Amino acid sequence: MGIWSRKTVGTLCNEALGEGPQHLKRSLGIVGLTAFGVGCTIGAGIFSLTGDVAAHQAGPAVTLAFVLASVACFFAGLCYAEFAAMVPIAGSAYSYAYATLGELVAWIIGWSLMLEWLFSASVVAISWSGYVTAALKDLGVVVPAAIASSPFTVDAHDHLVRTAGYVDLPAVLVTLGCMALLLYGTKASANINTAIVIAKVLALTALIAVGASYVNVANWHPFVPTNAGQFGHFGWSGVARGAATLFFAYIGFDGVSTLAEEAKNPQRTVPWSLFASLFICTVLYVGVSLVITGLTDYRGLDVPDPLYYALNASHMPIVWLKGVIAIVAILGLISVVLASIVGQVRIFFAMARDGLLPPMLGRVDKHRHTPYVGTLVTGVVAAVTAGFAPLGLLGELISIGTLLAFAVVCGGILILRRIAPEARRPFRTPWVPLVPVLGVLSCVALMLSLPNGTWIRLVLWVGAGLAVYAMYGRRHSKLRKELAQR
Ligand code: ALA
Repeated sequence: MGIWSRKTVGTLCNEALGEGPQHLKRSLGIVGLTAFGVGCTIGAGIFSLTGDVAAHQAGPAVTLAFVLASVACFFAGLCYAEFAAMVPIAGSAYSYAYATLGELVAWIIGWSLMLEWLFSASVVAISWSGYVTAALKDLGVVVPAAIASSPFTVDAHDHLVRTAGYVDLPAVLVTLGCMALLLYGTKASANINTAIVIAKVLALTALIAVGASYVNVANWHPFVPTNAGQFGHFGWSGVARGAATLFFAYIGFDGVSTLAEEAKNPQRTVPWSLFASLFICTVLYVGVSLVITGLTDYRGLDVPDPLYYALNASHMPIVWLKGVIAIVAILGLISVVLASIVGQVRIFFAMARDGLLPPMLGRVDKHRHTPYVGTLVTGVVAAVTAGFAPLGLLGELISIGTLLAFAVVCGGILILRRIAPEARRPFRTPWVPLVPVLGVLSCVALMLSLPNGTWIRLVLWVGAGLAVYAMYGRRHSKLRKELAQR
């Protein structure tokens, strides 16, 4: 057994039902869960990355890149839904891997999910800092670059270089603020999150509805610009690389499954919330990217605030919409930071409960039912990363780490159907093995579209994780101790 020890589906279900020393409070319904999914998802991806991908990789076909990325997410979503309904437990892909592929793979997935959640919080905080400092500048308040940008960036050759900045202070402060809010409890933050999410969805819908009548269709020709002679620079390879880059924009919809242990009637609410989140985001992304590439030449969209830029460039007379987009971007990004911290805390909680991480990371406050130590650790690490790490490097790492976790979830469905065919499945992934196989293939194809440097960093990250597992997790694993006592 050892590193291949597996939990049984029954054990996971008992943990989810709270037959253990530590469990979370079930307070979220389908609306709260979907709002959480959408809240985690719509963020820096659509508000910032869309412009970069349109200008450098896909042109107006950025819309197709969004559709391609959503296909991989859809297959993964179908697989997540079966797991999440069967074992509605905090920990998401990590817990599913523990039941199918054993402890070592579960550890690697948990460690990769850290890239997704912990560092997403940092990336979105950095993006927030960019929007806020730009907005303040428009209002006549200049925040010095020395305290509003990371001390490092990555150059065109993938090397780390020094910038004029010392620390991205707004990014640090927003992360710590979100952490403080979360220490008040999931329910309170879920209500604030729901309000922000509604504003975000309405603003993007308004942009699509109003912007559509100002579109100049000449801007969509050619829809897929000719390849510039290098893989990933326009043409169909540009659409593929764009899809891998924009995968970041979908990260978070799976967050619904990390809250499965706090959901009321999770067997029904979790799968539906997963699909509702993915559907809402895809429709909005496709609509927004079509409109902004129709409002202005895609080559000009290489700015941190492409939505705002496109509205300005189109010279449309509707001034209020620009203000709304700026305010909603700033508020909306906060909800993504919040949700990312929540997702990471749930992963810590699940890993600590299993003994693979120190138990204090899973300690739950008796009155508020929140894992406060995990929240503090996540908030502080995410804040330090947001203050000092370069944005580009983090973004690609997040995409590749999450794609790896998604691929394992899809593969896990095939295994679980074999090893636990009798388990109760309130939601069944359709067309098995076709859907999981397509899920694995689409995730791997997107991973292969990312640059080599990103692969090297993934290997280094996983290597560091294995060292921590060897030194701590392997020795403290509760499952191993239980198996040894039998
Ligand atoms: N999907 C999230 C975003 O775009 C991480 O910000």
